[in-house]
Amino acid sequence: MKNGPLFFLGLFSALGISWAGLVIGINTQLGGLSPYFDEAQEAAFPARIPGIAEQGLRVYRDLGCASCHTQQVRRPGFGADQARGWGERQSVARDYIYQSQPQLGTMRIGPDLANYGTRAEEAGRTPAAVLADLYNGHAGMPAYRFLFAQRKLDGEPSAKALVGGAPAGYELVPTARAEALVAYLLSLKQSYDLPEAMPYEPADSTKEAAQ
Ligand code: HEC
Repeated sequence: MKNGPLFFLGLFSALGISWAGLVIGINTQLGGLSPYFDEAQEAAFPARIPGIAEQGLRVYRDLGCASCHTQQVRRPGFGADQARGWGERQSVARDYIYQSQPQLGTMRIGPDLANYGTRAEEAGRTPAAVLADLYNGHAGMPAYRFLFAQRKLDGEPSAKALVGGAPAGYELVPTARAEALVAYLLSLKQSYDLPEAMPYEPADSTKEAAQ
């Protein structure tokens, strides 16, 4: 090859420039995102996630829950997520700054979970009820029985034991992984406002159309 070094230099710079654009460019745009201080509520959002929920994130990742569930709400015009009650606003990058490995997901065989904690709170679902859901599974949602241990009843049953499901003389208790997973699921809330999550809407679109 006549211009070998030039060719490799060209190849290197083509790869280098696209890498810089993709990795460095995006990191400068999003890597330094800080929480947003909401003056009306006198608190910063998103809130840090508790340690047990961070452990639950790892369980969620290990079990591949993201293969059926997403955690990102699209705005109207890009899908019916809000109409389905999955969130009141679109998800934005700032929502995930405290998650070490955001589980955005790509497939929706089950519902989006970005606001599962908010939904569960509104419906008054206790951690025990969510644990029972994981044990039982439901309509397309697999049962995660291995997250529970069957123990021989010895005296008083454990306060954490599931109601039903265990044969007489035994009890089913959630493992630490199950409890962390439920703490994580219940921590999933995008119910605060972020300025960039509000899409631009013309003041009165009907008036504009009539003109
Ligand atoms: C094979 C696909 C699949 C996998 C894997 C899966 N799910 Fe689901 N999940 C579903 C479906 C489908 C539903 C809806 C079930 C229904 O209609 O009752 C659901 C429902 C749920 C709900 C209730 C959502 C709501 O809004 O009421 C939660 C919470 C949930 N799944 C958590 C998990 C977790 C945690 C994991 C991983 C341990 C997981 N799922 C793995 C398919 C899946």
